[in-house]
Amino acid sequence: MEWWRTAIIYQIYPRSFADANGDGVGDLPGITARLDHLADLGVDALWLSPFYRSPMVDGGYDVADYRDVDPVFGTLADFDALLARAHGLGLRVIVDIVPNHTSSAHPWFASGLHDRYVVSDTPNQWQSLFGGPAWTQLPDGSWYLHLFDPAQPDLNWGNPDVRAEFDDILRFWLDRGVDGFRVDVAHGLVKPDIAELSVFDQDGVHEIYRGWRKILDSYPGERMAVAEVFDTAPDRVARYVAADELHQAFNFDFLEAPWDPDELRRIIDASLAAAAGVGAPPTWVISNHDRHRPVTRFGDGIPGRRRARAAALLMLGLPGSAYIYQGEELGLPEVLDLPAEVRVDPQFIRSGGTALGRDGCRVPLPWEGDTPPFGFGAGSWLPQPADWAAFTVEAQRADADSTLNLYRNALRLRRPAATLTWRSAPDGVLCFETDRLLVAANLGGSAFTLPREPVLASSPVGGTLPPDTTVWMEKD
Ligand code: NOJ
Repeated sequence: MEWWRTAIIYQIYPRSFADANGDGVGDLPGITARLDHLADLGVDALWLSPFYRSPMVDGGYDVADYRDVDPVFGTLADFDALLARAHGLGLRVIVDIVPNHTSSAHPWFASGLHDRYVVSDTPNQWQSLFGGPAWTQLPDGSWYLHLFDPAQPDLNWGNPDVRAEFDDILRFWLDRGVDGFRVDVAHGLVKPDIAELSVFDQDGVHEIYRGWRKILDSYPGERMAVAEVFDTAPDRVARYVAADELHQAFNFDFLEAPWDPDELRRIIDASLAAAAGVGAPPTWVISNHDRHRPVTRFGDGIPGRRRARAAALLMLGLPGSAYIYQGEELGLPEVLDLPAEVRVDPQFIRSGGTALGRDGCRVPLPWEGDTPPFGFGAGSWLPQPADWAAFTVEAQRADADSTLNLYRNALRLRRPAATLTWRSAPDGVLCFETDRLLVAANLGGSAFTLPREPVLASSPVGGTLPPDTTVWMEKD
């Protein structure tokens, strides 16, 4: 079976993982120096959010040069060293590709090659996902489209130059040895006629991914791609992971699910059915660099922490592949009280502060010690809460009940699984069997008598399963 069908993939947001050169911003040598953490955690692969040359208006999702490393993150030689070290540890590496838009500092846009962008004399009503109109006027009076920040002009995928360029960018990184790509805004590339109200998920995108699949398949070693397709129904998302297109798509329905047994079961069933219909693996995720962290989302304080741990064991017990976002394995909370002057997310800035944005899940990781920056580097570009000492990797390694050890144990006990069978359980409890495990999650129902001793529990259990707790048991 191909590795990506059951892989656990760890997302690194390079600015916030580890800083080797002491400028307060994470970098590639910092990641390389900390890869042992991922090997020890037991993941199969890592996905690096963008580290390319960028003015960093949107944290690197505004790319000015797709074939070079931004100096703040290091050099191409640093990338090669990271890749070699990861492969040496048995970890695959996926890089982000941002094909929907470039930075406005990209040489194409900066030099006025506007036929490679979506430009119109008559802007329509489309809105930017970061707030405000999606069109900005050029000096010649025409308007260019930006579904995100004005510094992120949307590419015109009707132009063959754009297609050829991205084929070449894919090859550039595949030749360097990457194991795959995470495709940013995969459902946005092809735009409808501007009379249309809805801009995403146009049928024309699939021809692009059929071409990309051919490129990926022309390399040895099971190279893969995972699509970011948000706000789209499961049957439409499944089209991106047809056998001749991409390999995986993120499961945003699962990520956005409330802590509700019926809703979760409905989403799990729909996800399994949609993936099975096209022969793709289901995927699961409870956090990423764009969402509030689960500990906070599920209810601040102890209930949130307890539920986030239960959600993690539920997710990691499901068949298929799962994504873990850096810091999730430490049970970090969202940092909600960052002062406005340190916030940099365009979502915050463009909404005039009415949307808090995503800085709070991008606070640099705490590694060790008792005071900020907790071993992250010499400082940290977003301030870490002073009371994060108990969250450090160092502190959690020493604590058998820590969230870090829960994730480590789960990944040690987890076995690749492809099937799921529901077992009867009281209201409020989800109970299923995979090829290897019996999983029971109590999402707030009555206490459930466990048929046998668990091999792993998200919170202490006696003979019964208390609310907001998930356990793994051996199968009969
Ligand atoms: C999705 C990325 O995950 C997000 O961080 C970014 O702002 C947008 N795409 C635009 O590239």
